[in-house]
Amino acid sequence: MRKKVIAGNWKMNMLPDEAIAYMQAFEPLVKETKVEVILCVPYTDLFYCIMNAQGTNIKIGAQNMHFEEKGAYTGEVSPKMLKAIGVEYVIIGHSERRQYFSETDETVNKKVKAAFANDLKPIVCVGETLEERESGKTEGIIRMQTRLALEGLSDWQVQHTIIAYEPIWAIGTGKTATSEDANSSIKAIRDEIRKIYGDSVAEEVIIQYGGSVKSSNAKELFSTSDIDGGLVGGASLQPEEFSKIVNYDA
Ligand code: 13P
Repeated sequence: MRKKVIAGNWKMNMLPDEAIAYMQAFEPLVKETKVEVILCVPYTDLFYCIMNAQGTNIKIGAQNMHFEEKGAYTGEVSPKMLKAIGVEYVIIGHSERRQYFSETDETVNKKVKAAFANDLKPIVCVGETLEERESGKTEGIIRMQTRLALEGLSDWQVQHTIIAYEPIWAIGTGKTATSEDANSSIKAIRDEIRKIYGDSVAEEVIIQYGGSVKSSNAKELFSTSDIDGGLVGGASLQPEEFSKIVNYDA
């Protein structure tokens, strides 16, 4: 039985004082949960959040990183730097990074490998655009993105990768994929993994859904056969609302 993993992605929001106040409000609201709870926060909040998460069940993640360990890459942050301050998870290949910052399947693959090389757990995002969906390409696109992101990884590494299926048309739009649709896309991703890495890896790998997840739709989405939790943007910015998503089954 796979564990549910629910991660908040704050994106480019929250000053350090807001982040600290959030952590203090959020921690008591989720302390009973059996779900794995992760907050993926801006670089400038990481250290404050890690300090505040000590002794709690909340894990902290970054939203991106470079694939090199160090060097002349002005403005970038390396996996080693994240690991050194106690970061556990890192989102890789979010559609906003692919769309606005020219990330490709190739850089995503390099980053996933760099995450494992530095003992960070990657949350890899895949998902189709509206145009791709309307022209019937959804399954082909997400199978390909999954394959390319995981290329060259060991079975153990694939098993320990979290995949987030985030249809781009559902992000920040209030349009959620129906639970049947999201579940069937996630089944396709799992099937692609099964084809390459076999049954036991495919059955273990955590695959989340992301795109306008709210407390009002979390239970329906997360009760399906293959959706193992969520990657939540806007609704993770309010501790009360995000705690209701984490406690969807309570
Ligand atoms: P929203 O929940 O705001 O639609 O964002 C989803 C997302 O991009 C999480 O990474």
